[in-house]
Amino acid sequence: MSDLFSLIDKLERTHSLSLSEYEALLTQRGEGPASELRERAVRVRKAVYGNTVFTRGLIEISSWCKNDCLYCGIRHGNQKAQRYRLSPEDILACCREGWTLGFRTFVLQGGEDPWFTDERLCHLLRQIKAEFPACALTLSLGERSRESYQALYDAGADRYLLRHETADQAHYEALHPTAMSWAHRMECLRTLKEIGYQVGCGFMVGSPGQTERALAKDLKFVETFRPAMCGIGPFIPHQDTPFGDQPSGSVELTCYLLSILRLIQPNLLLPATTALGTLDPVGREKGIQAGANVVMPNLSPVDVRKKYMLYDNKICTGEESAQCRSCLATRMAGIGYELVSDRGDPRPIEN
Ligand code: 5AD
Ligand code: FES
Repeated sequence: MSDLFSLIDKLERTHSLSLSEYEALLTQRGEGPASELRERAVRVRKAVYGNTVFTRGLIEISSWCKNDCLYCGIRHGNQKAQRYRLSPEDILACCREGWTLGFRTFVLQGGEDPWFTDERLCHLLRQIKAEFPACALTLSLGERSRESYQALYDAGADRYLLRHETADQAHYEALHPTAMSWAHRMECLRTLKEIGYQVGCGFMVGSPGQTERALAKDLKFVETFRPAMCGIGPFIPHQDTPFGDQPSGSVELTCYLLSILRLIQPNLLLPATTALGTLDPVGREKGIQAGANVVMPNLSPVDVRKKYMLYDNKICTGEESAQCRSCLATRMAGIGYELVSDRGDPRPIEN
């Protein structure tokens, strides 16, 4: 056990461990090391970001998806999924509402929907930026070509979220159909970074067949890739997918990983995700108290929310945008943190 504490100390000092050291942190975890990690992670997060929590308004623009990820409720093969697509006007209306509510970052997220061509997206991005020049725009629209990523960047996108899902190739292949490739996913992430985006990667915790070795690879990947953001959340089964009978991931392990990630990269933007809040009524609070510093309330129109069902029992699907934001502001205040109206860029620091 004392070994683990010296590993934690080394991690905070050097921001780096070997693959087997990360694996040891995971296989030998327990309440002692967890609270040690949590305390250090909160101390580090407070040194970089104080008690502020950044917020991003999430607009779920389309539930159409051409992919067939085995875990995802909006996979192409799920014939029961309800499909919708917001029009550019709908999306602009969400941004207007969001701006009034204090959001300074909008995240346009959707399945890989071919309707959203570069031309349509670029036009929309220019419109949003013209109306709200002070906002940051984040896209989360899956894998696209270098040319597409470049065009979207030139049209005003600042950030791109593309979870790598897992840094272990064999595990990636067990979660995805053969038409999708781990190498291509990783290549997209490198391309996004080269173009100049603030890039977010991320992974699920407790996906079927995931080993501690695979999670250790995720940690090593984040350490070396140095993303601006890393989104992690527990896997939650969706009844109409091949993984419908699999158990959910663990809130406790997700929080443990959040603390480790905070020590790996002190200025990392770490969201306390909706999936955490879905598995545990105070999951997002637990995420913040483990070192996370971002929340992403839902800004989608209420009539489409239940159709963007990535997993069962997703929260915030009946609430209005204003309710979601004030709900989170109250929750954060309740644990001594403050939701801020800010673009929420990563703070540049040397580490
Ligand atoms: N459980 C948890 N997270 C999921 N995602 C997709 N399906 C699930 C699920 N069943 C996550 C993926 C994806 C992000 C948008 O949502 O990591 O990248
Ligand atoms: Fe959406 Fe609480 S954050 S209702």
